[in-house]
This record gives sequence, C-alpha cells and structure tokens, in this order.
Amino acid sequence: MAEFIERYGPWAVVAGASEGIGASFSRKLAARGMNLVLVARRAAPLEELASELRLKHGVEVKVHPLDLGSPDAVEGMSAATEGLDIGLMIYNAAYSPIGAFLDVDVGEHLKAVDVNVYGPLRLSHYFGRRFVQRGKGGIILMSSMSGFQGTAMVANYAATKAYDMVLAEGLWYELQRHGVHVLACVAGATLTPSYESSTDRIPTSGLARPMPADEVTEQALLDLGQRPRGVSGGRNRFASMLLSRLLPRRAAVNMVSRETERLFR
Ligand SMILES: NC(=O)c1ccc[n+]([C@@H]2O[C@H](COP(=O)([O-])OP(=O)(O)OC[C@H]3O[C@@H](n4cnc5c(N)ncnc54)[C@H](OP(=O)(O)O)[C@@H]3O)[C@@H](O)[C@H]2O)c1
Repeated sequence: MAEFIERYGPWAVVAGASEGIGASFSRKLAARGMNLVLVARRAAPLEELASELRLKHGVEVKVHPLDLGSPDAVEGMSAATEGLDIGLMIYNAAYSPIGAFLDVDVGEHLKAVDVNVYGPLRLSHYFGRRFVQRGKGGIILMSSMSGFQGTAMVANYAATKAYDMVLAEGLWYELQRHGVHVLACVAGATLTPSYESSTDRIPTSGLARPMPADEVTEQALLDLGQRPRGVSGGRNRFASMLLSRLLPRRAAVNMVSRETERLFR
C-alpha cells in the first residue's frame, strides 16, 4: 500500500470513472489510500461515487465533468488537476458504436476515434510530461481483446483499441527510463453497464463469458510496472495466445468476427 502510494500517489486521475471498469479502478485506488480526480461527462454518478469513497476510505476526491473526446480535454484536465501532485492516470473511457461498419453513421465512427484515440493520445502526452518531470508515475490505457485482430460489428472500435495497446507498449519502453510505468490493460468481455446494455445474449460459458470488472482492475494494478501489456484473466490469456500466435490471421479474424456477429446481430 505505502509502496504503491509512494510510486503512483498521492493523487490519481481516472478518466471515465463513473461506472463499470472505471468505477472499479476508483474503488480499488481509494482502498489503497489514493486521492482521486474522477472524470466523466455526467456529474451526478461521479458525485455519488465520490461521496461513497470519501466516507468509506477517508480519501480526498474531486469530481470533474468533462467530455474526454473534446479537443479541450487537456485544458479541462489541466484546470481540474492544478496544484495536485498527480502520479497516476488511467484512461478508461471509450465509445463503441456497434453494427456493420457501413450501417453506422461515419460521425459515430469519428466520435469513437475522438474518445478512444485522441483522448488517450492527448492525456498520455500531457500527463507523461508531468510524470517525467517529477521522475515517477504511471499510466494505464484500456485496450481490448478486439484490438488483437479485425473484428466485425466493431471494426472501427477494434482498430482504436489496437491503437491504445500499441501506444501504451511504445510508451512503456520510452518512459521507463524516466521512472514512469505504462501499461496496456487488455480486457475481454467484462460485466459492466455498457457491456450489459449492448446485448441480450450474454454468454454463460466458453471463452467469451464476461469477467467481473473488479478482477480486471485488480490484475491491471498488479501488472503496472511489471510488463507493457496485461491481458485480463486466464481465459483471455489463452484466447490471446490462440488468436495472435497460433491461428493464421484469416482464421483468427473469422473466429472472432463470427462470435461478435452472434453476440450483436
Ligand atoms: N466492458 C467490456 O466488455 C470491455 C471489454 C474490453 C475492453 N473494455 C474497455 O474497458 C473500458 C471501460 O469499459 P466499460 O464497459 O466499463 O464502459 P465504457 O462505456 O467504455 O466507459 C464508461 C465510463 O466512461 C465514461 N465516458 C464515456 N465516454 C466518455 C467521454 N466522451 N468523456 C468522458 N467520460 C466518458 C462514462 O461516463 P459518462 O457516460 O458519464 O461520460 C463511464 O464513466 C473501455 O476503454 C473499453 O474499451 C471493455
């Protein structure tokens, strides 16, 4: 605990904090004694979570409603964190329009690029510089198993998640010499409000069965500083080995795309 705060504290930013994986990260960090800046678009769920964490863990929590996909995201974040000794930034928010690529309006695809690509790019650059200056810190970027190969029904989202994974890996190498740890957290299907609202066919068995968010976040906090990329859970690690190392590319794309079509059509 003390070691974690010494390396990544005393303040952390969770970008996309109000529900699902982001709320789970926030609870786990507060339990470790970290003060938090919670960011998402809706103020009400952020305030509710902030009250819970202050009461339960006695930490300081600030709330900052902000659209992370907007070009002003860095200015907003800079104002929200002015004077705070931030040591950890978790970029969790994502936008994932689901449907055949051509059936989804191109504006929706561009919005996914704003939130899933420009957002983590801008904030990694901003906080990366801050952390290098203080000589320590951590960055976690949320990626996805869909980022390992092309995936039907979420083709653009999957491509943005490949970007997040590869960006984090490059930064892991570049920033480690400055004492800054970077991790790509590669989650598979995870039980969150966003996932649950996307399908009425949640698998109850097999490789695609969703994991609890708390298992994803606990593993990510253990992986930070240990490796460039952490795949959540044994089933997903097995699937990632199968998809990215054992199967020919065509078979991997076919397999994942068929599964995704079954889930979302
Ligand atoms: N759930 C899964 O099955 C799964 C699988 C693989 C990877 N992942 C990755 O895990 C991360 C979290 O997923 P999730 O299912 O928990 O939910 P999510 O829908 O990706 O994110 C939810 C959180 O992000 C905030 N958010 C969304 N768009 C935002 C924006 N433009 N600006 C600011 N905040 C924004 C939401 O609050 P507001 O709505 O109030 O803004 C909420 O707090 C994502 O990066 C996703 O790609 C999830």
